[in-house]
Amino acid sequence: MEQNRTQKHTVVLVPLPLQGHITPMLQLGNILYSKGFSIVVAHSEFRPPNPLNHPEFILHPLSDNLSGYQASSNNLVELILAINSNCRAPLEDYMVQLMEDQKLQGYQVACIIYDSHLCFVDSVATHLKIPGIILRPDMAVYMLAFRYFCQLEAENRISFPGSRLQEPVPGLHPLRFKDLPYPITNEIPEWIMDFFASSVNIRSSVAIILNTTDCLEHSTLSQLQQCYKVPCFPIAPLHKLGAAATSTSFLEEDQSCIAWLEKQPPNSVLYISFGSIACVNEQELTETAWGLGNSGIPFIWVLRSDSIDGSQLEDHFPEAVKALLGERGLIVKWAPQKKVLAHSAVGGFWSHCGWNSTIESICEGVPMICRPHFADQLSNARYLTSEWKVGLEIENVLDRGSIEISIRRLMVDAEGKEMRQIMSVMKDKLEAGLQKGGSSYESLNDLTEFISQLPS
Ligand code: UDX
Repeated sequence: MEQNRTQKHTVVLVPLPLQGHITPMLQLGNILYSKGFSIVVAHSEFRPPNPLNHPEFILHPLSDNLSGYQASSNNLVELILAINSNCRAPLEDYMVQLMEDQKLQGYQVACIIYDSHLCFVDSVATHLKIPGIILRPDMAVYMLAFRYFCQLEAENRISFPGSRLQEPVPGLHPLRFKDLPYPITNEIPEWIMDFFASSVNIRSSVAIILNTTDCLEHSTLSQLQQCYKVPCFPIAPLHKLGAAATSTSFLEEDQSCIAWLEKQPPNSVLYISFGSIACVNEQELTETAWGLGNSGIPFIWVLRSDSIDGSQLEDHFPEAVKALLGERGLIVKWAPQKKVLAHSAVGGFWSHCGWNSTIESICEGVPMICRPHFADQLSNARYLTSEWKVGLEIENVLDRGSIEISIRRLMVDAEGKEMRQIMSVMKDKLEAGLQKGGSSYESLNDLTEFISQLPS
């Protein structure tokens, strides 16, 4: 491997191969590369990053025994556990070799930055005496929510009646019990609790990098910093800080969206996407199509080929849905989302409220319809609707009437205009954070300094 960088330091990244996790990791890699570090990505064989999109990185596959695996919202924990147990030995072998090669070239491995769910990396890093740094892809408050579960369990208070779901969670304003990542009206299985406990345990990591920013989560970040004695570096939005905006998508982006958007008036189009994992059932799909059709609003709707529970999209699509929607919109399998949100024709985003989608929408000033499906999406939606007041939620059963009303509230009514104005102020604040003296700019400089000075 030929290295000629301003820094004599190499940073090794170990991502989790889920879209919402690998994206911030690769974006961070772009940023650190632009700061002079060499970047090595040690990734699972399952869903590797596309080397053509990252010619500047050294990519190394770790054998994972996952061939044929299909990730879905029902088996994510299983995937994470499998990677944790299967990739430990391959990572250690590779790191030993890499460190020897680096030494010969006068370089050194400064640290390993790894996804917060991949605790096996900590064990390798500790064994080889390399500093480990965690990257959290989600809001800081989500880490506090996991800690809250662990605290409840320690106090034997983990389940209580559903009548308390609307009550605020102590110390986690604005979250209610219903916004937490698991319904605590039932006993929580032990393996789920172990998973929560494992993801808030930073073990021997020397720092935490957070895909968030002070202007969104000022008080939560102070709370988090009190819980962990290592430095926390909140840096976001990551895709606005990297040198080049390279694609990190596993699926091919359908660029036809952009040419179509060019023909639409400003703020007229609703963009709909439920991220990379969330699914809908057949009835929800049909109700959404009717609601969208009846609203009269132009749209781009992302429907992945695995977007429908338990069956292939092709079984229902495109004829049935297209007939309802006419010529007013585009249905694509995967969009260049950041470009779509940045386009002036887009006036609203109906989202599952994954954190990457949320922050991408905020940084383009696009107000949202929130329909969270699971995990952190519930708490993200709560922030969008109740704390920042830039989104409205479609709650309960998804029916065509409430969909039509919600779309018109966001895209046509004064309420939507007001949300767009607040979003525009939030966008300005995020942008200010990226400028010299801004919180993300300074936090990134602190991180760069911190990595450069880590003991070898
Ligand atoms: C998952 C979780 O669901 C999410 O809640 C968590 O915060 C991160 O991991 P995902 O569901 O895929 O992620 O959602 P999200 O975090 O929004 O990430 C999706 C990414 O895919 C975004 O960066 C988005 O720009 C991209 N995307 C999505 C596309 O590029 N094109 C699309 O058509 C849809």
